[in-house]
This record gives sequence, structure tokens and C-alpha cells, in this order.
Amino acid sequence: MCAAGRRWDRSQRALLWVMLLAAWEAAWGQLRYSVPEEMPKGSFVGDVAKDLGLQLPALIERGVRITERGRTQYFSLQGKSGRLVTAERIDREQLCDRVQQCVLRCELIVEGKMKFYEIEVEITDINDNAPSFKESELEERISETTAPGSRFPLPDGYDPDSGRHSLQSYELSGDEHFSLAVQAGPGGDQRPELVLAKALDREEAAFHELVLRAMDGGDPARTGTARIRVTVLDANDNAPVFSQAEYTVRVPEDVPVGSILVTLTATDADDGLYGHVEYSLKKQSDRTSNIFHLDSETGRITLLQSLDFEVGDFYELEVQARDGGGLFDTTKITITVTDKNDNIPVISVRSALSEISEDAPSGTVVALLHVHDRDSGANGDVRCSLDGDVPFRLQSSHGSYYRVVTARELDREQVSEYNVTVRAADGGSPALQSSAVLALRVLDVNDNAPVFAEERYSARLAENNAAGALVLTVRATDADWGQNARVRYRLSEGRVRGAPLSSYVSVQAETGALYALRSLDYEQVRELRLWVRAEDGGAPALSSNVSVLLLVVDENDNAPQVLYPPPAALRAGSGSGSGVAWSGVELAPRWSEAGALVAKVVAVDADAGQNAWLSYELAKATEPGLFRVGLHSGEVRTARSPLARDAARHSLVVVVKDHGRPALSATATLQVVLAESVAELLAELGSAADEAAAPGEPAVSLTRWLVLAVAAVSCLFVAFLLLLLALRLRRWRRQQLLPPDSGALRGVPVSHFVGIDGVRAFLQSYSHDVSLTADSRKSQLRFSAGGSCCDTLPARPLPDEPAPLLGDEDPAGALAADPPALSVSFWVQILIASQVGCFFSL
Ligand SMILES: *[C@@H]1O[C@H](CO)[C@@H](O)[C@H](O)[C@H]1NC(C)=O
Ligand SMILES: *[C@@H]1O[C@H](CO)[C@@H](O)[C@H](O)[C@H]1NC(C)=O
Repeated sequence: MCAAGRRWDRSQRALLWVMLLAAWEAAWGQLRYSVPEEMPKGSFVGDVAKDLGLQLPALIERGVRITERGRTQYFSLQGKSGRLVTAERIDREQLCDRVQQCVLRCELIVEGKMKFYEIEVEITDINDNAPSFKESELEERISETTAPGSRFPLPDGYDPDSGRHSLQSYELSGDEHFSLAVQAGPGGDQRPELVLAKALDREEAAFHELVLRAMDGGDPARTGTARIRVTVLDANDNAPVFSQAEYTVRVPEDVPVGSILVTLTATDADDGLYGHVEYSLKKQSDRTSNIFHLDSETGRITLLQSLDFEVGDFYELEVQARDGGGLFDTTKITITVTDKNDNIPVISVRSALSEISEDAPSGTVVALLHVHDRDSGANGDVRCSLDGDVPFRLQSSHGSYYRVVTARELDREQVSEYNVTVRAADGGSPALQSSAVLALRVLDVNDNAPVFAEERYSARLAENNAAGALVLTVRATDADWGQNARVRYRLSEGRVRGAPLSSYVSVQAETGALYALRSLDYEQVRELRLWVRAEDGGAPALSSNVSVLLLVVDENDNAPQVLYPPPAALRAGSGSGSGVAWSGVELAPRWSEAGALVAKVVAVDADAGQNAWLSYELAKATEPGLFRVGLHSGEVRTARSPLARDAARHSLVVVVKDHGRPALSATATLQVVLAESVAELLAELGSAADEAAAPGEPAVSLTRWLVLAVAAVSCLFVAFLLLLLALRLRRWRRQQLLPPDSGALRGVPVSHFVGIDGVRAFLQSYSHDVSLTADSRKSQLRFSAGGSCCDTLPARPLPDEPAPLLGDEDPAGALAADPPALSVSFWVQILIASQVGCFFSL
């Protein structure tokens, strides 16, 4: 207020000065007026006439004129009143721009008086112009990094008015970021400047609208405005920022190639290039670069390769987001791969046997397996098992090792090879599984003996077989294998009738064929019992044996042999053989009844059965019808009572036949004498003997020679005995004389000392007992040596001896029955008698 008051004093003082100057000038002959501009036409400027002291009528008479230097006449003189008025509307700003004092000069010429007066009219300013700016819209670009306090020039306002009415001050309206500073220019003019009061942030406000207002000092003051639009220029003042400091991704390992695993987003508040973010992998190994791909524009991480949990279950990437200005942010991406059950368990056989002996003890390790599943957790949890019912079991040893061991003893004969399937399944769902096959061959051990196909073998072989005939084949099998199953056959040792069995039969070692080595004779050997042994090729070998029974089948190869009556051939010294006639002399009383037993033909057949079943027939008789023969008993009986007219002597020929096919036969000739008394009998006998001897003269002489020879031998023998006795007596006497230990006979075997008892025993040994048993089954002639002749032998044959004969109607019974035993040897008895006689005669 004080300042304003003082200024006011100054302007009043200036006005006073102007009045004084005007008054002085008027006095000097000069007129000075002042008129505000923009006055309407005809406005009063000054009373010229009065000021000049001129009489109005004189003025008009004398002619008064106003001249102006310019082309335009601004003033005119009112002739009646002598007043100066404006002739035009006067604009001071137009007339005198930027001139402090705007003075228009004109001259008043009084033509009559030839006088002129200078008139100055000052045009005073009125506030008729508002301040203005050249451009009402301004654009200002300021970087957001501009430091506060920075100044930016603003356009000056312009007000053509002068003085107080000219532009006086500026005013800025807008926001707090900006303020206005007005600098005084060299010419005292004001220069507005925009001052950055507070740092800009494009990201906060990219534009600022300001209004610059210029004001003059009029009353009322006039203003002019300019709109300033401040564009905040972007600076790279913002780094990209990732939406997450760390990205954690979990993906299953079977995610398909090309899948987007994660999309990274980094935002940059800046604009344009500075806000453009590019992504790059900052730290990466070759491994991850092959697996993951980062799209630098979108920030997508895609899969280039299929993942494998077992190769890598965890990846760490570092991604950098960089804007155009080089600012960046980094983030970490952890990719955790989760396991899928995509790996089957793998069984690897670390070592395995391909062969095992069947006697390997239970628990023998057959194979060592390693099982591995690359999955983890339950997916990699492997359980093993064996397929099927096999005699093996699994033993789990360290960790994922398994042993396959035998669970019990093996038997190659049951199962010779195994394909042991080991199955491994993991714990995933669904579980994956795999298997391995162990091929195992069971080696043979000789644990099986050969087994014959039959429990016992028997065969029937007809006698008189060809030597080398195949009898039968034994067969034994061995459940073992190879050499252990190679069976060889052997005949067990044995003896038959004193000869080794091997001389009868032989077994072919390879085939088991049993051959008869010699022709067998049923009459000698009826059956052969033997053992055949089968032995395999193992070490030690196992064997078994089987009994073989060879039954010799009879053939009708023996003719019946007539034992009684004694064969005439023996007496006559002729040979033996089938069909040889035998003869004897039988006695029959004339008074005998019909059916009385006269004699019995005794015959044997060495064959058996049918071949030895004999039948007797009367073939020839001197008196047919007088005698008959029992068909099977061989008994000769009278068919009727003998009549007186019947001859005394009868000759009967009996044919003995067996039932073989073809049948063989023999004949026996019986001499039957019918006698009334003993004398007659003897007479008949004598004649019969003569008759009998007559045809056999050579036989009788032979008999005589034989008797003589025997007697001679016997005498020699007795002489020898006597010699021995004498020697012994002599020695005995010497022993009596010599000391007992002289031992002259020490070397002589005891058997040489024969005493009296020895002689008797010797003699007895000569009394051969011809014991004939006509057993149809045994059918053997048994010569028993030793034993008293008197004990066992009847003095002579007893034809009348009752025999347990069988009815003719019963042939089978006849076969089974034992015929009476006959002990007869006429010639031998003679021999003995002669020996005894000789002995005693000597
Ligand atoms: C075991 O497997 C082999 C080969 O596949 C086959 O030849 C053989 O017959 C099998 N043996 C058994 C006992 O299954
Ligand atoms: C089989 O033969 C052997 C040897 O010869 C013998 O020891 C064994 O007793 C025989 N077995 C039979 C059942 O005869």
C-alpha cells in the first residue's frame, strides 16, 4: 500500500508537471491538449479560440484552418465555437505503437492574420487491449528425468496498451509440478519462465495441462491466456519387473513336446522401446538349452524334448527380462519333473547256470538277478516272482539282487528242463512288468536202475531145438539219460546139471535176446531157471535182475522102453533102441481062473505127458483068445481058463505104444508056460530054455565068456587084495620091531591102506543096485551105488507082485500112478555070486 501510495504521488506530480508545461507552451504560442483515445468523432479536444484569445467572429472572418502532417485528419475546428474536436476515432496503439507519449501535432493557420499556431494533442491511453500471446496453444516437451528447478522459457504476452494498461503480470495455473518465474528482461520487460517444481513421472502423468495468464494493470484488468501442454518425455526409468520373483513349475515327465510349461511376464512401466521387454535365458547349460525353449517375445517356455524324470527331475533356469534401455530383471524358474510310471522294471541276469545236476541239494543257487526300475517311489518299487509251479524260489539278497535257488531236489526223470520265468512288477498303477526266462537243463544222475518190462519172463521151448535158437527177449528200460540209461544184459551165473548155465543159454548184451546155445533135451532138462541182470552204464552202475523160466517142451523123441520082461537082447548081447524085442518066461498054472494075472509088461517112456502115456496091446499070440493085455496096465491075464488041449508053451508079443504124434512103439515078447506041476514046469522050462537058447547060440557062448572074464578079473582082484594084506601084515610086524617114529610110510596116502572092511565096502560098491523107478514124470533110470543088495533088491523079479494098477478106463490115473518098483538084475547077480564064490574059494 505504501509503495502504491507513493507511486500515486509520483503520477500526480507528473500530471502537475504536464499542466505547467501546457500552460507554458500556451503562453509560448503553442497549444497543448490531451484527449483519450478511442473517443467518438466530434469529441471535444480543446477550446482553441478561447485559449488563443481570439474573437470568434474575427476568426471566422479571417479564415482559420487546421493542417496536419499526416494524411489522416484526426481533428477539426468547430467554426462556430472555435473548439477543436476529433474528426476521427483515434486508436493510440495504431498511431504510435510502443511509444510512451503519443502526441499528434497540427497547426492552426489564421489566414487573415498570417499567423499559425502549433497545437499538440496528446492521445492518452485507455485500456482497450487485452494482453495476448502469439500462440494460444503451446506444446512443451520435458523429459521426466529433468531435475526439479529446471527452467523452460515461456512465450511473452503482448499488450499494445501502454503504461499501466500494458502487460503487468503473469499467472500460471496447472499443477504442483510447475511454477512460474518471471525474469526481468534487459529492457525491463518481463519474461515468464516455467520452472519444474517437482520431478515429473511419465508413468504417473504423461501430460500436464497448464494455463499461462497475462494480466495488464487496467481497471478492470484485462487478461490473456495461453494453454501450455507439457508432454512428459519418457525416460528409461523403469526396469522390467517379473510378475513373480520365482516361478515354480511341476510337470509330469510325459508332458508332450511343444507344451507350454510356463509363461513369464515381466512388465515395464516405460513406454515404447523402454517398455519393450525381451526375455532371455541368462544361465543355461547345454542340457537345458536342448530341452527348453524360451520365446524372447512372449516369455513362453516350451518343451523341445521329452522330459525324463530318470534323467533329470529338477531344472533351474534363470531368465532375464531386458527392456530397450538396457534395464533388466531376472527371475528364477524351477521346473520339477514328476515321475510317471514309464519305465518297466529291467531284469538283468548277472550270472546263471544253464545246467544243474538233478542231485543238487535244495538251496543251490541257480541264477543271480539284478532288478532295476528307473522310476522312483512306488513306480520303482519292484517285486519279483516266479511263474508257475517250479521247484525254485527267489531269495532276495542285497537290495535289488535276487537269487534263484532250488526249493527242493530236482528229478530229471520228471522234468528234464525248466524255463523258469522270473517276473518283475513295479508298484505303479497300472503296474508295469517284465520277465526273464532262465533256461535250465537238469543233468542226469544215475539214480534209476533199469526196470524190466515184465516182472518175470517165461518161455516154452520145444526140446531138440536148434543150437542158437532165439528163446525170448528181455527188455529193461532205464529212466535215466545217456550213458546212465544204456542198459546191458548179462546172465547171472548158475549151473545146470553140473554145467555152467552159460553153456546152455546166452544173452545178447545190447538187445536182451536170449539164445539157447545147445539143443535141449526134455528128458535131461525140463526147465531152466535163470536170472538175467540188466545193468546201466552209470558209475556206479545200477542193476536189476529178472527171473526167466525156460520150460522145455517135450517132444515124442523117446520110444517106450520095456523093462519087463527083460529084453532078450540083453541076454543075447544085442543092441538096444526102440523096437527091440524083449522076452521072458512066465509060468501060469493050468488051473488058473480066467482073468488070473500071468505077467505084467512093464515099460517106461522117457518122454512126458501124452508122449509117455503108454498103451499095451497084444500083437501076436500062439493061442489067440487065451490071454489078454490090460490096455494101460500092461498086465497079461488069462482071458479064459486054460484048457487041457492048450499047448503048454505060448509066445505073446505085446506092443507098447506111446501117444505121441507120431507114436513110437516097442514090443515085448513073453514066453508063458502052462504047467500042471513043478516037475512039468521044470521039464518045460528045460525045453523052453533049450528052445530059447537054440536060436541064440552066439549069445550063450558070449555069456559064458563073460562069466569067465568076470571070474578071472575077480580072482586077480582077490589076489591083489591078498597081496595087500600080506604087505600090511609085514609092515605091522616091522612097526612092532621099529620105533614108532621111524615114519617109513609117512608119505603114503591113507586111502592106500585098505583093510578087511575096505574090501567089503569095495565089494559092496560093486553090487549095483539097479533101482528102476518107472515114474512117468521123472522117468529116470536111477543107478544107486552103495547100499546092501539084499536090502533093496529082491532076489529075482516078482511077476506076481501086486501092482497098484489102474483101470484101463482111466488113462490119466494110469499116468499119475507109480508102477511097482522092480529091482532085478539077473546078470549082475550072477556076477556077484561068482565074485563071492571066487573069494570064498580062494
Ligand atoms: C523252454 O524254452 C525253449 C525256447 O523257447 C523251448 O524250446 C523249450 O521247449 C522250453 N522248454 C520247456 C520245458 O518249456
Ligand atoms: C540180483 O542179482 C544180484 C547179483 O547177482 C543179487 O545179489 C541179488 O540178490 C539179485 N536179486 C534178486 C531179486 O534175485
